[in-house]
Amino acid sequence: MKKKILKILRTKNKKSLVCLTAYSKPIAKILDKYCDIVLVGDSLATAMYGMKNTHQATLEMMIQHGISVKSNLSKALCVIDMPKNTYRNINEAKKNVKLVFKKTKCDAIKMECNGNNFKIIKSIVKLGFPVMGHIGFTPQYYKKFKIQGLKEKDRLRLIREAIKNEEAGVFSIVLECVTNNVAKEITQSLKIPTVGIGSSINCDGQILVTDDMLGLSSFYPKFVKKFVKLTNIIEKAVQKYNTAVLTRKFPSKKNNF
Ligand code: KIV
Repeated sequence: MKKKILKILRTKNKKSLVCLTAYSKPIAKILDKYCDIVLVGDSLATAMYGMKNTHQATLEMMIQHGISVKSNLSKALCVIDMPKNTYRNINEAKKNVKLVFKKTKCDAIKMECNGNNFKIIKSIVKLGFPVMGHIGFTPQYYKKFKIQGLKEKDRLRLIREAIKNEEAGVFSIVLECVTNNVAKEITQSLKIPTVGIGSSINCDGQILVTDDMLGLSSFYPKFVKKFVKLTNIIEKAVQKYNTAVLTRKFPSKKNNF
């Protein structure tokens, strides 16, 4: 098993995994110092491209942003999301996963669970490509937001999906918007680390969309904490620039050749 993957596995019950998303070089460079995992998430469709949902993210987009992020990480594990409709069967998944690894040199890919794609995940792991799982609210397969695990039948389904993912060979699994108790039960049942988003402190690690925690988004679900309000800071800088240009204070002599 690859060293970086082993390192993630060995954090179980020892250290919280710090994970964030990145789509570009400057953010990747900063995250590399502080994150165990940097995910090039298909959330880039909404966060970067302003699309309605993640369904419109393409393989080309993921590869292009993946190249930018991976080439600026040295320490953190680089995981790239497989976008919707790129792993519907084993052959399609193999072809597209190989391409992502070849072009980006990423460390792993992430595949959302649709309740029965375990054989596809297993076939990719068998080829030697590390896979991160993703269960709970999986945006590629849901139209409307829904908290996961409130009903007993959902609790049982989530536990089954988590175990099936582990059996398929994923090295870690994202739990998205899963209730506290179910997240706890899954985390305690698995040998691999769980990474929560909206799934409580009961997970082995946490992930957020970086644009959300920086206060750059326009959509803030309850589970997001804004660690800074970057929009305000950027707006102030742009206002200053606007004034400086209008009053002909910029560029000054200092900026001339
Ligand atoms: O696409 C993404 O950013 C994700 C995270 C929310 C886990 O899948």
